[in-house]
Amino acid sequence: MDSKIKSTLTNIARSKESITVLTGAGISAESGIPTFRGPEGYWTVGSKEYHPQEMATLEMFQKDPKEVWKWYLYRMGICRRAQPNAGHRAIVNMEKLFGDRLTLITQNVDNLHLRAGNSPNRTYQIHGNIFFIRCAAECSATVYPLPPEVVPKDKGEELTDADRQKLTCPQCSRWARPHVLWFDETYNEAHYRFYSSLTAAQQTALLLIVGTSGATNLPNQVAWEVHQHGGVIIDINIEKNSFSKLALSSQRGFFIQSTSSRALEEIVHIFYEALNP
Ligand code: APR
Repeated sequence: MDSKIKSTLTNIARSKESITVLTGAGISAESGIPTFRGPEGYWTVGSKEYHPQEMATLEMFQKDPKEVWKWYLYRMGICRRAQPNAGHRAIVNMEKLFGDRLTLITQNVDNLHLRAGNSPNRTYQIHGNIFFIRCAAECSATVYPLPPEVVPKDKGEELTDADRQKLTCPQCSRWARPHVLWFDETYNEAHYRFYSSLTAAQQTALLLIVGTSGATNLPNQVAWEVHQHGGVIIDINIEKNSFSKLALSSQRGFFIQSTSSRALEEIVHIFYEALNP
């Protein structure tokens, strides 16, 4: 790794300053979970093909809750079979090194960061987690684990009556919904840690952006906030993107064109050496 990146990482590790890691689908691609905007995301209903941007909406859920649940239970199967990879483990090791100095903000709903071992209180799942549900009618804000009786579905498999019963709000008996942020919804603090993420950004000296295309709102606000107050941004991605441009637009930022696992393993090694000279 470039010696300038190495000395920047070493200095920040040895300071008392905060570090934020922001992840997207790219980090989970190496665990076999297709990125959202790739071709595997399509879903066929009858003779029509739907894009995730149409399926993952409140509008679609209100029109056809069964079909949206079938899609989520299919995706849940992919996430459950996937295993955390070296990139996820590197971020766990960063949390071990830095404790409360580290915040992880993830757009991924696949639960792999928590399965790898990052702690729930320092991990902001800003788009939710598909292994959790809540009342679709918002009778309360309580978030429940998906009942274990509800098992993943193959493509084309229908919901059973038992599934239907379990996918019900335990309080008001109306539909439960996946605990995820849909495209036609807005962030909030209670479910998606909106303000907590911005506060972390305000306090962070180093933002590592990993495997995200920059298509969503809060990650852009987080990056912009760090850029504005003079923090260091390092973007890790296999391709150039809007975050790499932002990182390179300041004298302090870097773009590491690499897979997330390779770059994160190297970075955690540099952090370790900085703290254990
Ligand atoms: N290592 C690093 N980066 C990678 C890798 C990899 N192995 N594989 C893919 N990438 C990069 C791609 O180059 C791309 O920039 O990961 C990014 C994935 O982009 P998207 O599919 O757009 O995923 P993401 O940015 O997480 O999407 C944001 O939008 O689709 C909604 O809510 C959904 O959380 C998702 C959000």
